[in-house]
Amino acid sequence: MRRAWTIILGSLAVAAGLVYFFYTEVRPAVIFGLRSDYARPIAYQPTPEGIGSLRAESCGTCHREIYEEWKTSIHAHAFDDPFFQAYWKKDGNIWVCLNCHTPLENQQPTLIKEIPRNRVEKAVQEPNPRYDREYQQESITCAACHVREGVILGPFDDSVAPHPTRFDPAFRTTEVCYRCHSVVSGPAQFYRFGPCGTYAEYEDKYFMKERGMICQSCHMPEVERPIAEGGPIRQGRRHLWRGGHDPDMIKRAVAVQVQADPPAPKAGDHVRFTLTLINAGAGHKIPTGDPDRHFTVEFVVLDGEAKVLAQKSQTMGRWILWQPVIVEVYDDRLMPLASRDYTFSYLLPAEASGLTLKTRVRYHILTDAQHNALKKEYGLTAEDPYAFTIYERDYPLSGNLAAALRQGEHDPRLACAVDGRRPG
Ligand code: HEC
Ligand code: HEC
Ligand code: HEC
Ligand code: HEC
Ligand code: HEC
Repeated sequence: MRRAWTIILGSLAVAAGLVYFFYTEVRPAVIFGLRSDYARPIAYQPTPEGIGSLRAESCGTCHREIYEEWKTSIHAHAFDDPFFQAYWKKDGNIWVCLNCHTPLENQQPTLIKEIPRNRVEKAVQEPNPRYDREYQQESITCAACHVREGVILGPFDDSVAPHPTRFDPAFRTTEVCYRCHSVVSGPAQFYRFGPCGTYAEYEDKYFMKERGMICQSCHMPEVERPIAEGGPIRQGRRHLWRGGHDPDMIKRAVAVQVQADPPAPKAGDHVRFTLTLINAGAGHKIPTGDPDRHFTVEFVVLDGEAKVLAQKSQTMGRWILWQPVIVEVYDDRLMPLASRDYTFSYLLPAEASGLTLKTRVRYHILTDAQHNALKKEYGLTAEDPYAFTIYERDYPLSGNLAAALRQGEHDPRLACAVDGRRPG
C-alpha cells in the first residue's frame, strides 16, 4: 500500500515538474528565436563630425528627396505603426521587438545586461541613461543603416561630404536587409521559414541571385539624381520600401489567368473554371513576412438581379498552430515564378442569359476576426484598409464567354511562370 502511494505521489511530482519545466523553459515566449545580430540593439551611435545631429530631419537638410521618401515608408513608422503597437501590447511589450522596430541603442528605454540561456523573457534589464524618446519615434531611421562609430557608410567610394564617409559594399547586396528580414526558430517552434523570414525564402530557390536581383532591385527603385543638394548626379535608389500595405505593389507580384472547360459551354454543361495565380513579380514567397498575410481566390455566380446562385472561396497562406507549441500546419504560399490553379465547377442551367461569373483575388493583411480582436483587446487604432482587391473580372456565362476569357489573357507576365505548369 505504501509503495503504491509512493509511486502515485512520485508520478504526480514528476508530472508537475514536467509541466513547470515546459511552461518556464520550453514554451515559446516570442514567436522566434534569438540570433546574435538582432539579440542586441545596434550599439550606441554618437553624431558624426560635421553635422548637427543624427536625426533623419537633419540628414534631410542636405538629402531632402531621400528624407521625403523615407518619411512615407513603413520603415519610418515601424514603431508608431498601429499594427505593431497592438501586437507589441499583446506580447507584453517585450524588449526584443525593439531591436528591429527601433534598432539603435539610442532609441531604447532599457539596456539588456544579460540574456540567461538565451531566453528572451529572462533578460536582465536596466534603464538606458542615453535613451532619446523622440528618436525612438523615428523607428528605422537613417542611422540604423548608415551610421557606425561616427562614420557614414554608403555605396560610393568617391563622395565629397561634410561628414566622414566610408564605402561599404553591403549596400549593394542583400546584406543590409538580412539582419531584420530573417529570423530563426526558437525552442518548441517548428516551421521551415520563420515569421518575417523573407530572406530565407529569397535564398531558398534558384531564381533571384542568378538574375542579379536583390531586395533593393524591387523595393528601392533606381534613380539618377544628385544624392545631396548641389552634388553631382549619381545612380542611386529611392528609399521607398513599398510592400504589403500598398495595393500597387501587391498587383506587381501577381499575374492571373482564367480559363473554362469547355471554353464555349452550352446550357446543361458542367463548366470547370480554372483561375491560375502566378507569383510573377516577387523575389520571395507571396505572401511573405508576417504570417497573418494571406490571399483569397473567389468565384461567385450572379443572376441578372445580382442574386448569388453559387460561390466558392479558397485561401492561400500559412496556418500556424501557436499554442502550446508552434507548429506550422501548412504553408501553401507561392515561391517566385510558381503558379497554382484554383478551380470551380458549375452546372450551367437551361436559361443562362444574364448570368455572370465574378472572379476576384484579394490580399489580406489579417482576417476580420483578427482585426476585431486586436481592436477590442489591444487598442488597434488603424482605420486604413487591411484587405485589398488586386484582381477582379466578370465573365458572362452565356454568349461571349470564350471571347471574354481571351481578352483576359493580356498580362505579359503570364509567360514567365517556370515552376509548375506554364499557363496557356
Ligand atoms: C550639410 C549637408 C549634409 C548633411 C547634414 C548630411 N549629409 Fe550626407 N552627404 C552630404 C554630401 C554633400 C554628400 C556627398 C554627395 C556626393 O558626393 O555625391 C553626402 C554623402 C552621403 C552618403 C553617401 C556616402 C558614400 O560615400 O556612399 C550617405 C549614405 C549620406 N551622406 C548619409 C547621410 C546621413 C545618414 C546623414 C544624417 C545622419 C547625412 N548624410 C547628413 C551632405 C550632408
Ligand atoms: C533595422 C531593421 C531593418 C532593416 C535593416 C531593414 N528592414 Fe525592412 N522592415 C523592418 C521592419 C521592422 C518592418 C515592418 C515595419 C512595420 O510594418 O511596422 C519592415 C518592413 C519592410 C517592408 C514592408 C513594407 C510594407 O508595406 O509592408 C519592405 C518591403 C522592407 N522592409 C524592405 C527592406 C529592404 C529591401 C531592406 C534592405 C535594404 C530592409 N527592409 C532593411 C526592419 C528592417
Ligand atoms: C533600411 C536601410 C536604410 C535606411 C533606413 C536608409 N537608407 Fe540610405 N541607403 C540604403 C541602401 C541599401 C542604399 C544603397 C542604394 C544604392 O544601391 O544606390 C542607400 C543609399 C543612400 C545614399 C546614397 C545615394 C543612393 O541612392 O545610393 C544616401 C545619401 C542615403 N542612403 C541617405 C539616407 C538618408 C538620409 C536616410 C534617412 C532619411 C536613409 N538613407 C535611410 C539603405 C537605407
Ligand atoms: C523581384 C522583385 C522582388 C525582390 C527581388 C524582392 N521583393 Fe519583396 N516584394 C516584392 C513584391 C512585388 C511584393 C508585394 C507582394 C507581397 O507583399 O506579398 C513584396 C513584398 C515584400 C514585403 C512585404 C511583406 C508584408 O507583409 O507586407 C517584404 C517585407 C519584402 N518584400 C521584403 C523583401 C526582402 C527582404 C527582399 C530581399 C531578400 C525582397 N523583398 C526581394 C518584390 C520583390
Ligand atoms: C528580427 C527582427 C524583428 C524582430 C525582433 C521583430 N520584428 Fe516585427 N517585423 C520585422 C520585419 C522585417 C517585419 C516586416 C515583415 C512584414 O511586413 O510582414 C515586421 C513586421 C511586423 C508586424 C506587421 C506590421 C504591419 O504593419 O503589418 C508586426 C505587427 C510586428 N512586426 C510585430 C512585432 C512584435 C510584437 C515583435 C516582438 C515580439 C516583433 N515584431 C519583433 C522584424 C522584426
